[in-house]
Amino acid sequence: VEDLTGIHETTDFPVGVAIDSRETVGAAAQLLTRHFNQITPENHMKPEAWYDAEGTFRPHEQALAMMDFARDNDLRVYGHVLVWHSQTPDWFFTNAAGQPLGTSAADQQVLRERLRTHIFDVAGSLSERYGAFGSATNPLYAFDAINEVVSDSGEYADGLRRSEWYRILGENFIDLTFEYADEAFNDVYAAEGADRPVTLFINDYNTEQSGKQSRYKALVQRLLARGVPVDGVGHQFHVSLATPVRDLEVALESFADLPVVQAVTELDVTTGTPVTQAKLIDQGYYYRDAFRIFRAYAEDLLAVTVWGLTDGRSWRSGNGAPLVFDDNLRAKPAYHGVVDGE
Ligand code: XIL
Repeated sequence: VEDLTGIHETTDFPVGVAIDSRETVGAAAQLLTRHFNQITPENHMKPEAWYDAEGTFRPHEQALAMMDFARDNDLRVYGHVLVWHSQTPDWFFTNAAGQPLGTSAADQQVLRERLRTHIFDVAGSLSERYGAFGSATNPLYAFDAINEVVSDSGEYADGLRRSEWYRILGENFIDLTFEYADEAFNDVYAAEGADRPVTLFINDYNTEQSGKQSRYKALVQRLLARGVPVDGVGHQFHVSLATPVRDLEVALESFADLPVVQAVTELDVTTGTPVTQAKLIDQGYYYRDAFRIFRAYAEDLLAVTVWGLTDGRSWRSGNGAPLVFDDNLRAKPAYHGVVDGE
């Protein structure tokens, strides 16, 4: 691992990286702890990850490996994700006969109870093993309570994705998620005297695009007006060199007047293929400009997370080298852009 300034030493907010347990050992772990002071489990705290093939709740061993690693290395953990339409077991939405739940009061009650049990099992199992939230031994301090509920199209008056959650419970599933999560993480399983130890986020992608952004903001405003305990607004920012970097600033600006904190939750910047040296240099300037914007919004930002440690491990590697370190764990121009832009 190169002897370079750690990225997190150059910002006033924590800088995170999405990982699985592969990054908790060896040279990858060394690179991680030099540059980052926060992790997000890329897959192993998603709804499906908590259940075995029979549908029985049990924390995934990779989730525990990441929590152990964070606790032992003084890293914060940003949890991802309690409720989502994707990577969720089908049985959530079916009855005992395997038929889809409908919208009767009884069926809605079944799904509400599954939602509540899921959230309380997640919070309960983590606090059982790591201590109450807000105590020194428990590194979890934020969670994407809900992910990707805004519609990609403008065709619906409420601007919401037509998911199974939505079909059965309507918009109310979002309120319930935050209410149950707040109760579990910030009350029942919280350390005595700790004030909201786990910051609860709504999270979405394409929030740098104007239509999605206004639907997202309208939803957050409705939630706040109803007194729903949403603390934070997450911007995934899965972008490319074709995305004007100014759009990232507009996205942060557009939520700055709301009583919420914000986070960049899943940053990556694809170059397109083939990847050339010229594009990697352009990407260096892109990361520089993006982090200049993030530093300017430091007061609004809880954290900034990049969605993977090295290019080859990125879910978007096929679209061109999206991250700041290459597969040999070497710093790319993107790293230097981030650090030199300070
Ligand atoms: C992605 C992971 O990176 C992949 O490994 C997985 O196969 C699919 O999910 N938005 C999210 C993340 O909120 O959970 C997604 O992560 C990327 C898009």
